[in-house]
Amino acid sequence: MFEKRPNIPVFNPDWMQDLTFQTTDEPFEVLQAASAYRNDPKQWIDIDSLGLEEPLEAYLDRDPNPIPSLQDREGYYDQDRHFDWWLSGLEDFLKVQHCLKSYGQPLLGKGSRMLELGCASGRMLRHAYCQGQGCEAWGCDIKLRHVEWIRHFLPTGIKAFQNTVLPQLPVEDNYFDVVTAYSVFTHIDHMELAWIAELRRLLKPGGLALLTIHGDHCWSQLGPDKPVYNAIMQMRKRLVGWKDFSPEIFQNPMPQDKTVFTWSTARNYNCNVFHSTEYIQKAWGRFLDVVEIIPGGHSGYQDLVVLRKPEGKNPAGGQE
Ligand SMILES: C[S@@+](CC[C@H](N)C(=O)[O-])C[C@H]1O[C@@H](n2cnc3c(N)ncnc32)[C@H](O)[C@@H]1O
Repeated sequence: MFEKRPNIPVFNPDWMQDLTFQTTDEPFEVLQAASAYRNDPKQWIDIDSLGLEEPLEAYLDRDPNPIPSLQDREGYYDQDRHFDWWLSGLEDFLKVQHCLKSYGQPLLGKGSRMLELGCASGRMLRHAYCQGQGCEAWGCDIKLRHVEWIRHFLPTGIKAFQNTVLPQLPVEDNYFDVVTAYSVFTHIDHMELAWIAELRRLLKPGGLALLTIHGDHCWSQLGPDKPVYNAIMQMRKRLVGWKDFSPEIFQNPMPQDKTVFTWSTARNYNCNVFHSTEYIQKAWGRFLDVVEIIPGGHSGYQDLVVLRKPEGKNPAGGQE
């Protein structure tokens, strides 16, 4: 069985309480390594579609670390789908590699540095470290419990820290080759552009940011089979600024270039953000070059936005 690593110091002064999500005292439930769930009764992810370059066993052998329980993985995949949870992280990691390859960048591996903003308990980050052997893998999240999970149960080489909602991370300029944020800008409303500027600061010139959004593609497909649709519908009576909310809006184009549904009483995220392609080009494009927006590039319904930090002496980004 996996033991929790003891005595990990946490820098967590009182003022951070207002700017982060705090941890709970509930003990961690730790599951086995992914290989133990190979024959989960429910498996929806098609292994053949992942384009593995080696037998699956090789990927499993490189990651003998435990899997978090459902409550410590943002509700991703249900109790019967631990293996799918692990595969979904592998899938996203392989997509990062694919993007790097297609843009002529070195793959995540020895000598490269990546950061995952909003890494939760390491669904993708663990693969960056274990599969991208030698990759310097950093992850941060506003929820301390996630960071603690990584510190306790994943290899100590992974650099995980808690950040606050303020867009400032304790890392030097021009440090990372790649920065990712999966399903994170879908929940950030305030200070979104300051976060984009912060990611730009952290990237090396020429480095890539891979960020997912609820984009036009997602908006056009919203319906009861999509968790984000159900989350909004559940909170429909509490949506801030949507007095006349009607689900009919989903049958029309996105009403604003950045459309935000915020609610006031949820314990967890309290907003879902939608961005139009035009908004991404105009707003994010001021800070980073928008290289590509891949519709459905993450989980089939979020778009994957590929951005690059401009190179040169004064990489201003944007257009004159
Ligand atoms: C929907 S989950 C996605 C988790 C992970 N990226 C994945 O794909 O499995 C969103 C995560 O982003 C974190 N988050 C939200 N806003 C954040 C912020 N401003 N800075 C860091 N993490 C944030 C949440 O705590 C949560 O763990």
